[in-house]
Amino acid sequence: MPVTHNHVAKVIAIDGPSGSGKSTIAKELAHALNVLYIDTGAMFRALAFIADEKKIILKEGFALNEFLSSLKIEYKLSDSVLIRVNGQDLTERIREHHVSGLASIISQLPSVRKYLLDFQRSLALDKICVMEGRDIGTVVFPDSFCKFFITASVDIRAERRLKQLRENGDTTITLSQIIEDVRLRDETDMNRSVAPLKKAEDALLLDTSNLELKDVIHILSNETKFRAAHLGFNL
Ligand code: DC
Repeated sequence: MPVTHNHVAKVIAIDGPSGSGKSTIAKELAHALNVLYIDTGAMFRALAFIADEKKIILKEGFALNEFLSSLKIEYKLSDSVLIRVNGQDLTERIREHHVSGLASIISQLPSVRKYLLDFQRSLALDKICVMEGRDIGTVVFPDSFCKFFITASVDIRAERRLKQLRENGDTTITLSQIIEDVRLRDETDMNRSVAPLKKAEDALLLDTSNLELKDVIHILSNETKFRAAHLGFNL
């Protein structure tokens, strides 16, 4: 069970589609508030990477359950190691382009979601944190005291993704391919039967298409501090 304070979890839930800027925002917000940052997408990516490496068929069944029970995930071991699975540092590898598609597929499997749900809840047990994903405000911590749903237009999100891939040395993929990928991934993430990507009713919606990062952080950190003060805990 999540730790609660007056029946609220001390988790700042940040959800939204890929490329909305939510990862940068979540990281910066955690830094500004001096609290732990938890990137749940990295967990789906890490599982997808290992499953692919071990040639696990991505569907429910005995093999998948065996695979899940063979895993040891370690999150945020140091500033430079974000995620390790069975001793393998996957911090860099999970950002490879092919992993995005595999992560989207693996994240539709109920047993994978259940496995990571327990892990995600366990990470936030005793501390205030910013947790970023697709279903944090709706499923993982529906009782979180502060929820944000971050979005941006498809074109802007694709341009941001292209820039990121170019920075990581990928020169092959084109903008139109990425726009197609972004659309497809949204479609899958929003229409899967388990924990689909959707805004929690009580989440604050923020479209970052025309906003500067520093302004977004300003809005989010003020809102978070205001709510925390209202509930009687300090940030
Ligand atoms: O945020 P990201 O692109 O690193 O996420 C990778 C994939 O994992 C993406 O297809 C959505 C999925 N995901 C999810 O289903 N639930 C989460 N809480 C986080 C990510």
